[in-house]
Amino acid sequence: MQVDLTAKVAMVTGAAQGIGRAIALALAYNGADIIINDLDRSASQALQQEIEKLRRRAFVALADVSDYTAIQQAVSEATAQLGKIDILVNNAGWDKGIAPFLRTNHSDWQRVIAINLVGVLNCTHLVATHMSQRKSGKIINISSDAGRGGSFGEAVYSGCKAAVITLTKTWAREFARDNIRVNCVCPGLVDTPLLAKLKQEEFGKKVLERIEQLMLLGLGKPEDIANAALFFASEESNHITGQVLSASGGLTFYG
Ligand SMILES: NC(=O)c1ccc[n+]([C@@H]2O[C@H](COP(=O)([O-])OP(=O)(O)OC[C@H]3O[C@@H](n4cnc5c(N)ncnc54)[C@H](O)[C@@H]3O)[C@@H](O)[C@H]2O)c1
Repeated sequence: MQVDLTAKVAMVTGAAQGIGRAIALALAYNGADIIINDLDRSASQALQQEIEKLRRRAFVALADVSDYTAIQQAVSEATAQLGKIDILVNNAGWDKGIAPFLRTNHSDWQRVIAINLVGVLNCTHLVATHMSQRKSGKIINISSDAGRGGSFGEAVYSGCKAAVITLTKTWAREFARDNIRVNCVCPGLVDTPLLAKLKQEEFGKKVLERIEQLMLLGLGKPEDIANAALFFASEESNHITGQVLSASGGLTFYG
């Protein structure tokens, strides 16, 4: 897919690997300069080099999305370097493992909520403030089909992803007056380091393999999600806001 993002600046959270990396590269191939947010310094720097080879600017903004102050500083440094943020992709996400709710504990919930929900609140609050001053912006939230239909063994993660869907719709309503569009992409299962980690334990492997069998078009690749995000980042989607797109290989069908 080819669109024109020349002179746009995009911030991608959790960009160093997996889906975030594919999104950052897709945006850069199509002309955007990239703010690479992640916790992993060396993988972020490797991506920075790859983007610079495409003759795009890339700024590494190491910060934990769950830490408001750290993200505030990262956004401030990144905008000082690259001038602005036109596109925000809230991609950073995490789950500890696949386990029935009654076998999970309070401290695990805190971390899942901090990254998957508070992280999205933090980044959107800071970046949408900047976008509202410029009266322009596109926000793309990476949720999950788990947030649309629930997912066995991922109760708290699914709850956070459902919240991200509702936030997408609410922010679309609130931010439209500032010419900011907000949309959401829901992957099914995608071949990334996160999925590999969740499959390491026997129980997780069993559950995920059953879900994979339900995906009519098979396991997703990070690039499949990047194409959907690219569409929402582009001018071609200018008449679309507050929408939820499952890029999940036919795992679910929601009307
Ligand atoms: N892989 C899948 O099957 C799948 C399915 C549905 C939804 N998703 C969602 O897609 C997104 C990307 O998932 P992925 O599979 O590429 O994951 P991944 O673990 O492979 O990559 C996530 C990246 O985010 C970074 N990250 C994690 N916590 C962070 C934090 N607190 N602050 C900043 N960066 C942080 C990691 O360092 C890593 O580089 C997540 O939101 C995930 O929930 C993934």
